[in-house]
Amino acid sequence: MKHPFLLVWLTLIVLCGCTSSGKQKRHVIGLSQCMLDDAWREAMINDMRIEASNYDDVEIIIKDAQNNNETQIQQIRDLIRQKVDVLIISPYQSEPITAVAEEAYRAGIPTIITDRKVNTDQYTSFVGANNYEIGLAAGNYAAHYLPPNAIILEIWGLTQTSPAQERHKGFVDALREREDLSFRKIEGQWLVDTARMELRKLEHPGQIDFVYAHNDMMAIAAREYFMAWDSIRGRDLRIIGVDAVAGAGLEAVEDGRINASFLYPTGGEQVIRTAMRIIQGEPVDKFIPLRTAPVDHQSARTL
Ligand code: FRU
Repeated sequence: MKHPFLLVWLTLIVLCGCTSSGKQKRHVIGLSQCMLDDAWREAMINDMRIEASNYDDVEIIIKDAQNNNETQIQQIRDLIRQKVDVLIISPYQSEPITAVAEEAYRAGIPTIITDRKVNTDQYTSFVGANNYEIGLAAGNYAAHYLPPNAIILEIWGLTQTSPAQERHKGFVDALREREDLSFRKIEGQWLVDTARMELRKLEHPGQIDFVYAHNDMMAIAAREYFMAWDSIRGRDLRIIGVDAVAGAGLEAVEDGRINASFLYPTGGEQVIRTAMRIIQGEPVDKFIPLRTAPVDHQSARTL
């Protein structure tokens, strides 16, 4: 370095920068996400950031478990060790994440569970839409389009997650009286690539009359698969999904790749608002429900 003074000066600028603009935030929210790699979760993070920007003294630490229970458990333990002010958990699978969620709560960290459930009531608040109701609404929608003796293909999300179980239960309950129907199941695990892979193994695709996918990405994979198999039947086949997130499923309903979807709000805004209430010492409800709504071609355009 030709100018040692310059080095000292630059170091000072960096240090000053750290204490003025980048000063330690007063409140830290830890977010343990089961994965980040899709439009719905990106929207959730975005919604969180927008809501957090209303407060000038809060920082969110985001951990991405990349669809792995062990990684998520370790990351939650890190956040417990860091003593975050509030911990938000969007679990990968319900059962394996239950114990560590309890651990956080018992360590005195207010814990918000969102989207997928854990199998305990040891948490501060749960924020999420009612997936059983989504399943019911999807079943009632399907009932209008199912010919006698129809065969329904259900593309499941990860079977060990509460939204997949509840979306399934609501759907079959809505169609309980239709004893003529039969169901086929494939496990897409919420992922477009897995859905594609499992669809390729489908036997007699021509027999399918209706497709119910637990999320829009898997519904889009189904449309692609059936179109490639037979473009006429593939176009006419009724396929529905769940999420209707802007930038992905909503557009797919609008352009006809999916016939309908059911809004599954990310809750990003509500979880941050709930976290801030906890930080400010205000009481919060144990359950904060998010509203859902059917989305068809018309409403997708409006939305
Ligand atoms: C996103 C997602 C959504 C689905 C939710 C269920 O990762 O798969 O499509 O509605 O998770 O937990």
